[in-house]
Amino acid sequence: MPINSPLRIRNAIPADIGTLRDLFRRSSLTNDDDRENLLANPDALELSGTSVQEGRTRVAVTTDGRIVGFVTPLVVRDAFELEDLFVDPDWMRQGVGRALVRDVVGAARRRGLARIEVVANRHALGFYEKAGFAVEREVETRFGPAPRMHLAVSRAEPTPVLRKRGR
Ligand SMILES: CC(C)(COP(=O)(O)OP(=O)(O)OC[C@H]1O[C@@H](n2cnc3c(N)ncnc32)[C@H](O)[C@@H]1OP(=O)(O)O)[C@@H](O)C(=O)NCCC(=O)NCCS
Repeated sequence: MPINSPLRIRNAIPADIGTLRDLFRRSSLTNDDDRENLLANPDALELSGTSVQEGRTRVAVTTDGRIVGFVTPLVVRDAFELEDLFVDPDWMRQGVGRALVRDVVGAARRRGLARIEVVANRHALGFYEKAGFAVEREVETRFGPAPRMHLAVSRAEPTPVLRKRGR
């Protein structure tokens, strides 16, 4: 169900890091098949604050100021690589992930980047497909094979089609 109130998406600041670390851990542990591996490798549950310090992380915030998700894009050649995309478990399936991807697409367009790329968690495959991503190939990750996906970014914001009068 979509969130009733609008989300604001802004740059993360160092004061957000504690909240983001907690959200990252709780969100990561929602993927059932990953839980055992993650708990056995606690470093994989720790978010480094580097991308926040570098000004690359974007957070989705509710009108009452609660951070409900974040995304971290990194410029790699002519694309944005998604390093992180995590939604607070209490706010999943309410359009937060979609809003964060939309924000990255807008930023890519403004920078003239051609694509968004991601190595998707298997559990998030359906989410990325709904957002328009396509699978390129399987790649090997620390915790097994995962789909590498991409979304082509059109150069211009889609413009509404104007109908000619009288036709
Ligand atoms: C994957 C994730 C980012 C999705 O965020 P979200 O806010 O729950 O997704 P949204 O509500 O914006 O969903 C957008 C659409 O995708 C669908 N969707 C969301 N998660 C899905 C999933 N796991 N499988 C299939 N479809 C999914 C929604 O139903 C919605 O469909 P609709 O357009 O028909 O309404 C979130 O579940 C998450 O943080 N997961 C844990 C961390 C993770 O795996 N991150 C990805 C790392 S690569």
